[in-house]
Amino acid sequence: MTTLIYGAYGYTGELIAEEALDRGQNVILAGRNGTKTRGLATVLNTDARVFDADEASTYLDDVDILLNCAGPFVDTYEPLVEACLDTGTHYLDITGEFSVFEELAERDREAEKAGICLLPGVGFDVVPTDCLAGHLHDRLPEATELNLGFDALGAVSGGTVASAIEHASGGGKVRRNGRIESVPIAANSRTIDFGRGSRHAVTVPWGDVSTAYYTTGIENIEVYTPMPERVGQALRLAAPITGLLGVGPIKAGLQALARRVFDGPTAQQRETDRAYLWGEASTDDQTVVSRLETPEPYTLTVDAATTAIERFEANDVPTGYHTPAAAFDPNFVLELDAVEGFFDD
Ligand SMILES: NC(=O)c1ccc[n+]([C@@H]2O[C@H](COP(=O)([O-])OP(=O)(O)OC[C@H]3O[C@@H](n4cnc5c(N)ncnc54)[C@H](OP(=O)(O)O)[C@@H]3O)[C@@H](O)[C@H]2O)c1
Repeated sequence: MTTLIYGAYGYTGELIAEEALDRGQNVILAGRNGTKTRGLATVLNTDARVFDADEASTYLDDVDILLNCAGPFVDTYEPLVEACLDTGTHYLDITGEFSVFEELAERDREAEKAGICLLPGVGFDVVPTDCLAGHLHDRLPEATELNLGFDALGAVSGGTVASAIEHASGGGKVRRNGRIESVPIAANSRTIDFGRGSRHAVTVPWGDVSTAYYTTGIENIEVYTPMPERVGQALRLAAPITGLLGVGPIKAGLQALARRVFDGPTAQQRETDRAYLWGEASTDDQTVVSRLETPEPYTLTVDAATTAIERFEANDVPTGYHTPAAAFDPNFVLELDAVEGFFDD
């Protein structure tokens, strides 16, 4: 099978391209910048295609799987998914943007009809938390509340910060009674032991607010990350001005700055840092808690995306829209290198 990696010369796309080629996958590198795409293809000794996302259907006829690494994904997913539907190409990405998950879930039937799988989120966001959600649901199938969390605040790439800025003006998100609701950033807080002692944590608009619902059917979902109490308070106070981040020129300026300033984790950080995931599912009278420990998020992303491609190569995937834990199963995360868990309370 042939996989085309779009956004291949970005920080994460390049790491995935290298790993996919190391694993013997048949990979074409793609992106909108000809010099960067062809330059990387020469270094990695593979083929290159240069095109804008909205020209993609001309370039996918002989491609089985498209892995989109070009984020913010809200800017790229739509034309790429249209092209995949037209050409019968499976679509995967490494988004963590809940609006992209929600919009792709709406296209489930179109994907089924086209005989393709739409599988967004095959990175750190959301593979480990989604698998944890599926595992908790297996432990307590009648759960009505699901809280998930990640403790993984290390170095980040410019693309990750640019994607966070893209959605920052939208505030926080939680799911209540099956619907995604807008709430202030850091609206809720609690103390959580992610696996290395208790920490103060706040709600964030992480992708699982969308995906865990499709994986588990649980209608009330919040996602937490550690944050010092004072920072959480400051964010809540700053909520009225975060709307400014939605103003075009301000947003574009900050995103350009982020791309210059944030380099992503070093090779050593990717090798040694760890991430800690926590989840809790509850009914009115019962609560179960499980945890996972994984490699550093970009390392996990590279492994998860290339392992997902292997599943497609083995024809081991359903058609339609799926979350990672639903497309494979919650134990998918345990197949990845140096993942430890599930630790059940
Ligand atoms: N799920 C996860 O856990 C996870 C992990 C890692 C990264 N990510 C996400 O993946 C995305 C990429 O991250 P990164 O670290 O690789 O960032 P990056 O180094 O900034 O790379 C972004 C890539 O996307 C391309 N791109 C951006 N907008 C585009 C557009 N409108 N049309 C065509 N190409 C476009 C860029 O090309 P140009 O340089 O030409 O703009 C570049 O090749 C981010 O959204 C990040 O949040 C998610």
